[in-house]
Amino acid sequence: MDGKGFGDKNSFYQNLEENSRRLYDLALAKAKEAYAPYSGFQVGAALLCEDGSVYEGVNIENASFGAGICAERTAACCAIARGKRRFTAMAVAALKEGKQASAPPCGICRQFLGEFGQELLVIFGKDREHLQRYPLQELLPRSFQLEEKP
Ligand code: THU
Repeated sequence: MDGKGFGDKNSFYQNLEENSRRLYDLALAKAKEAYAPYSGFQVGAALLCEDGSVYEGVNIENASFGAGICAERTAACCAIARGKRRFTAMAVAALKEGKQASAPPCGICRQFLGEFGQELLVIFGKDREHLQRYPLQELLPRSFQLEEKP
């Protein structure tokens, strides 16, 4: 959604600590809406696009366990379906039986996000005071590509 006041990529990096926490707060608020009756592990993701818009997602589980989807990919799907392709940062937050927990993105999500750029800054941590930040290429180096990109 628009209007969260993050601005473009440059302004996000200008106030990196505070903006990381703000994006993480959005992810954490969203985690409460996750549908995770089987694992009890609720995840929220907030994806900041280069145009300043933010799209959120949650994990959605299913009685057929393999049919579930992670929060990072639901956030990315919302953004992509709105025509967004360029992303600045993604924050991920989790609640394990109601308590905050760290949630580094899984391998499938790393590959999925990598389709849209390796520079995406991924932010996660057990709470807003203990955030870790990595560019996606550090989380999934030498990822699969159909063709070598120039
Ligand atoms: N999960 C996510 O939403 N993101 C991740 O990167 C890791 C795991 C979800 C999937 C499942 O619903 C629950 O967390 C427990 O694995």
